[in-house]
Amino acid sequence: MPDQPHRILIVDDEPNMLHMLSSILKQAGFEPTCAEDARRALELVDDGDFDFILSDVRMPGMDGIQLVENLRSRRIDSIVILMSAYGNVGLALEAIRKGAYDYISKPFKTDEVVLTLRKAAEREKLRREVVRLKRRLLRTEGNPEIVIKSRVMRSVLETLHQIAGFDCSVLITGESGTGKELLAREAHTQSQFSHGPFVPINCGAIPGNLLETELFGHARGAFTGASNAKAGLFEEADGGTLFLDEIGAMDFSLQVKILRAIDTREIRRIGENTGRKVSVRILAATNEDLEPAMERGAFRRDLFYRLNVVHIHIPPLRERREDIVPLVEHFVSLYNRKMGRSVARITREAQDALLGYTWKGNVRELQNVVERAMILTTGDAITLESLPHDIRVSTSRIPGFTEQEETLSLKRASKELEKNFILRALNRTAGNRSQAAALLEISYPSLLQKIKDYGIT
Ligand SMILES: Nc1ncnc2c1ncn2[C@@H]1O[C@H](COP(=O)(O)OP(=O)(O)OP(=O)(O)O)[C@@H](O)[C@H]1O
Ligand SMILES: [Mg+2]
Repeated sequence: MPDQPHRILIVDDEPNMLHMLSSILKQAGFEPTCAEDARRALELVDDGDFDFILSDVRMPGMDGIQLVENLRSRRIDSIVILMSAYGNVGLALEAIRKGAYDYISKPFKTDEVVLTLRKAAEREKLRREVVRLKRRLLRTEGNPEIVIKSRVMRSVLETLHQIAGFDCSVLITGESGTGKELLAREAHTQSQFSHGPFVPINCGAIPGNLLETELFGHARGAFTGASNAKAGLFEEADGGTLFLDEIGAMDFSLQVKILRAIDTREIRRIGENTGRKVSVRILAATNEDLEPAMERGAFRRDLFYRLNVVHIHIPPLRERREDIVPLVEHFVSLYNRKMGRSVARITREAQDALLGYTWKGNVRELQNVVERAMILTTGDAITLESLPHDIRVSTSRIPGFTEQEETLSLKRASKELEKNFILRALNRTAGNRSQAAALLEISYPSLLQKIKDYGIT
């Protein structure tokens, strides 16, 4: 048994039962407290910490299942064990689905109760230890799926870890492909909700009224086609994290309902009159600036403030170029594993080109470029030739110069620059030469001559 006696709350409407359990458990080294109904139990729980709650299922007023639900929405993490008479095992199983730990069927032998409690304590101790160790490992070693080197991203991740333990809403902003979902998952993994589910939903991909049904669920017959009742994503995410992606795309009318759900921690299925308690942490993300949307009245300011309790901004890749090469290496080893390849290097020219590019699609674009390059190369290196044209022409050094050749010849540099600009212009106009000439502000015949001179095909 533990160094300190386990505190246990016993809930039963039969005084005899309370009395008997209390004295058995005291003898076994526990520290019992009794409650004659669920309401009283909740009062006691609010005042004190219990390691265990041992409760009857059938009780007048609030029953054992409602008690479990209530404990859960209050985030009480005591281990709940239910006692149910033979015929009520179905109810006990329902309670387990709702978060109870185990049940004992009545009538039981006294040592059975003690044994069940001890086993639960042992398992719980191990579980907590595993969670603790996992978190520590992730914190010290870092999640290997997240690759960052730049100082700005290190501080982003640090903030994320600092707030992970709090039950506050977080708004993650950043351009498309910067890693908002990846960081949202990390925020979930590091949080106290990590044993619950992570449920993502892209608010921009589903039309308004359907989105409402997805999120809140519906009663049977709530609308044509609703032949069965269905739980929504809020309920699915109960005990975990709901990730509202592209929140800026959400209908104005639905925003009110989200706000209410966050404030009251209660949702109502469409077509139902009573609310249901849910315990969900909300993470939201957007790649658009919500300020203009709020100004034109398309996004609710009150919801914004509710979501934006903590704001995490992921800067675009072009503002943290130090991350580019480590990311490329990460994706190379990822695709090496996936494709059974052994690409080992990225040539200097290829690296320069990758570093000079603007990456409008951010990390996702980079990942796609690496995948494509690995399909195109047969050797053990990613070369300049295996990169898309757009990237090849945008090296950060003077275009076309390799490191060894870099000179201060103005004549050569301006030639290379000219060639590079022509390539870019042709690329931008999909090969249309007269449009390209216009972009370059030179005459059409002059462009044709240069194309010939530089050997551009
Ligand atoms: N720092 C990183 N380390 C490793 N992989 C990353 C990193 N950032 C992003 N990625 C990868 O890039 C891809 C895009 O990331 P993610 O889907 O999280 O972006 P997003 O910001 O949600 O994009 P969108 O706005 O388009 O939904 C994913 O495959 C993700 O794993
Ligand atoms: Mg995303």
